[in-house]
Amino acid sequence: MPEQPSLTDDIDTTKPHSSRVYDYLLGGKDWYLADQEAANALITTFPSVRTSARANRDFMHRTTRFLASEARIRQFLDIGTGIPTAPNLHQMAQFVDPAARIVYADNDPIVLRHAQALLRSTPQGRTAYVHGDLRDPAGILHSPAVLDTLDLTEPVALSLNAILHFLLDEDRPYEIVKTLMAALAPGSYLVISHGGMDIDRDTWEKIQATYASRGIYNQPRPFDEVIKFFDGLELIEPGLQVLHRWRPDTEPTVPDAAVRFYGGVARKP
Ligand SMILES: C[S@@+](CC[C@H](N)C(=O)[O-])C[C@H]1O[C@@H](n2cnc3c(N)ncnc32)[C@H](O)[C@@H]1O
Repeated sequence: MPEQPSLTDDIDTTKPHSSRVYDYLLGGKDWYLADQEAANALITTFPSVRTSARANRDFMHRTTRFLASEARIRQFLDIGTGIPTAPNLHQMAQFVDPAARIVYADNDPIVLRHAQALLRSTPQGRTAYVHGDLRDPAGILHSPAVLDTLDLTEPVALSLNAILHFLLDEDRPYEIVKTLMAALAPGSYLVISHGGMDIDRDTWEKIQATYASRGIYNQPRPFDEVIKFFDGLELIEPGLQVLHRWRPDTEPTVPDAAVRFYGGVARKP
């Protein structure tokens, strides 16, 4: 059963939320007018934003396949999972090994409402959901969902896809990532996708302004700052890349500026 925090019906439909804007961009159905308006403003600012969102999803598919197949990881913690969009991470991982166990976390109450869709595990495996905030890593690590589902003495793949750029420097994102990785066993992995400020600074500044005027603050970071999240870990080839260049199934067909996200995977020694 999903963890059920005492959530009141606190979805503010008058303000956009990153999960629902992203859902709109991916062609989903879980958004309100404020999210649609924000997404359309983003499309005007950055016409290839949908290409970018899909490239980010494809990166999650490829990295999960790598982790489950080549790295033989059987436990996954996906923070900032978003509104379910098939295939979700557990479907990718359990396709390789039906016994894989997955915990999802997000701070948007609308994702909690969809938790059942995230929890359709294979009978051999398990999935769980925690309504939690990345800014409180201990709260996630000590949640019953994590404690009951994952064995933290064995390797876990932590994914932080398209979430860290919603943490400003004052939220101490580097400390948060260190806290999470410190709790995981040697042989664990970290997967990150992150807005790449230096890929297309002008467009990113416009995107930041578009979001900020609607109450969403984000901080895309340049390559040197994104790679710092992997300090102390062993980056897996081909290292930190514009994410459509991370072990692509086919040669990338769009320019880096259409994707403008970095992605990488690293192993805890
Ligand atoms: C752009 S979506 C990315 C979804 C998915 N990880 C992916 O890459 O396809 C960002 C997600 O992070 C969640 N999020 C943003 N800030 C968060 C925080 N501080 N704690 C937990 N979740 C957060 C949002 O609710 C949203 O679902």
